[in-house]
Amino acid sequence: MRDQMVYFASAKNDETKRPIGMNAPAKTEEFAVAQVQAKIPDGVYAETVLAVEHYTDRLFRFRMTRPAGFRFRSGEFAMIGLMVGDKPVYRAYSIASPAWDEELEFFSIKVPDGPLTSHLQAIKPGDTVLMRKKPTGTLVLDALTPGKRLYMFSTGTGIAPFASLIRDPETYEKFDEVILTHTCRDVAELKYGFDLVHEINNHEFLHEIVGDKLKHYPTVTREDFKYRGRITDLIENGKLFTDLGVPALDPAVDRGMICGSTAMLKDTKDLLEKAGLVEGSNSKPGEFVIERAFVG
Ligand code: A2P
Repeated sequence: MRDQMVYFASAKNDETKRPIGMNAPAKTEEFAVAQVQAKIPDGVYAETVLAVEHYTDRLFRFRMTRPAGFRFRSGEFAMIGLMVGDKPVYRAYSIASPAWDEELEFFSIKVPDGPLTSHLQAIKPGDTVLMRKKPTGTLVLDALTPGKRLYMFSTGTGIAPFASLIRDPETYEKFDEVILTHTCRDVAELKYGFDLVHEINNHEFLHEIVGDKLKHYPTVTREDFKYRGRITDLIENGKLFTDLGVPALDPAVDRGMICGSTAMLKDTKDLLEKAGLVEGSNSKPGEFVIERAFVG
């Protein structure tokens, strides 16, 4: 245990973050004292929150510093935590930023009584967030066999791993067309997805790589909007394909990734299997892969 360690965090730059002993003088001009963290567990990263954006009373995103040695594949998740009292509390979070990004981004639900999110929703720039060292997950390009069109089916915060993958050039090297579906209860909950697409279209190098390969298909289930309905219904009645102007699912060319609630995963998986696609994994790549949207 690193007892009584004090973290001084630069508001701007991870490079200046150093653990400093209790008696070291604070360089107040260069450093902002972020937080006093007692007993940060050994063997985990302690990172600094850089930005927080709240979308609705249920959803927010935050960005934090990325440890120098931390490697992950776009689409993977990590265990994120906070010290709650004197104990760390962790939950699995898909990393929403792409593998090349110098910072880490996460998109989170706020659960009023959630052991982690009830605290995480209150974080501010300068605060410390814990992260376990090993990322993992199956929503990675390596777990899919080669194809032409990649569908990313998401509900709610299930868009997070796809926020990573749609910002990764490798996705567009491997697929001619990338279709991101995002279904939420209401329009306000779609904002993160709209912001992502806007960011890509205005990004200095991504917009050229992505070109017109990325199609965003947002739908809502509990409010009026241009596109309405559960993605499962829109697959079943074919509206998804007519709206996009693409043929029905075909295992020869189409690949899928699914991230949402347990019920949404099961229902979407059944439809992909009905269309002849076979589930894959890291050890045995296939035509579609699945990950739970983690809530905590
Ligand atoms: P619905 O409003 O009909 O329940 P949540 O916010 O509860 O995680 O839900 C996110 C979105 O996922 C909602 O639009 C919800 O639709 C939809 N959804 C919930 N269950 C399923 C399911 N089994 N299949 C497809 N979509 C689902």
